[in-house]
Amino acid sequence: MTDSAFAHDRIALATETDAFERDIIEGLSRRQKTIPSRYFYDDAGSELFEKITELSEYYPTRVETSILLRHAAEITDGIADDGILVELGSGSSSKTEILLDAAPCLAAYVAIDVSPGALAEAALRIRTRYPTLEVRPVHSDFMQSIPVPHDLARHRKLGFFPGSTIGNFEHDQAVKFLNDLRHAFSNGDRLIIGTDMIKDEDVLLRAYDDSAGVTAAFNLNLLARINQTYGRTFDLDTFRHRAVFNRDRARIEMHLVSTEAQVIRFRGHIFRFDRGETIHTESSHKYTLESFRELARRAGWHPRSTWTDDKALFSVHELVIG
Ligand code: TRP
Repeated sequence: MTDSAFAHDRIALATETDAFERDIIEGLSRRQKTIPSRYFYDDAGSELFEKITELSEYYPTRVETSILLRHAAEITDGIADDGILVELGSGSSSKTEILLDAAPCLAAYVAIDVSPGALAEAALRIRTRYPTLEVRPVHSDFMQSIPVPHDLARHRKLGFFPGSTIGNFEHDQAVKFLNDLRHAFSNGDRLIIGTDMIKDEDVLLRAYDDSAGVTAAFNLNLLARINQTYGRTFDLDTFRHRAVFNRDRARIEMHLVSTEAQVIRFRGHIFRFDRGETIHTESSHKYTLESFRELARRAGWHPRSTWTDDKALFSVHELVIG
């Protein structure tokens, strides 16, 4: 790497740290305190999230994987030999291999993620397993921009957005994101997207508050990241993980509960917490088949196929442009 590339990295990091600081101050100033969930995924957070996906209580990964395996041929059908696979929030890229195996002629795999560590590791593994495939890791927050590399722009695109990550957006944000994605793509391009379904509260709560405490550690890692980045700010022993199902809004909400009344000082600001007051860190919206298809239509996509498991726990949708 050249010196200027290093300087560029330093500037990128400084800008990121400033944005994080602004987002924390803005979020903690609200009546319902909040911290944006994209900050979960530093390298430690990405690793903890991988552990969540391996828990037996966290059914979405397992069920979505089985749906993808069962319908891989149909899902990749019609993707031209020089088509490209574009994955949003690729993380460890573990479900990607199901599609790559079913479509061995793809021209390239573009992986977009906010975690540089997860991206590098996944790119290495995919390159080793698919030596003839062109692998393009892109470090970016796909909510801000969807940077499909210019030299690949003319290829037919198959978008891949698994993991019910769309569920982590508010409905309006989800529509905006899908609309932005449609503009980054072209007529005839498709999107394969996973959404978690509305179901029994018990099953949902276990998935977001597991007995081994991995999800709790993942949630609390957000505060650990703040301490690491800006110096000791939060006493992690005074916050607890809590998941609640908000049935009216069809979503699981993740909170960090302050177990005592306390004052948090951060970059010259003072934030008061009552005992039991929470920071809302994440929502995970659940859909019916039809409520998701309707949302996709609002963003200008045409829903085509949908696949689900026999217990209707999870669904995978095919959306197309034009
Ligand atoms: N997309 C995942 C989901 O909504 C993300 C997730 C799973 C998550 N467990 C979590 C986010 C715990 C925050 C906390 O299921």
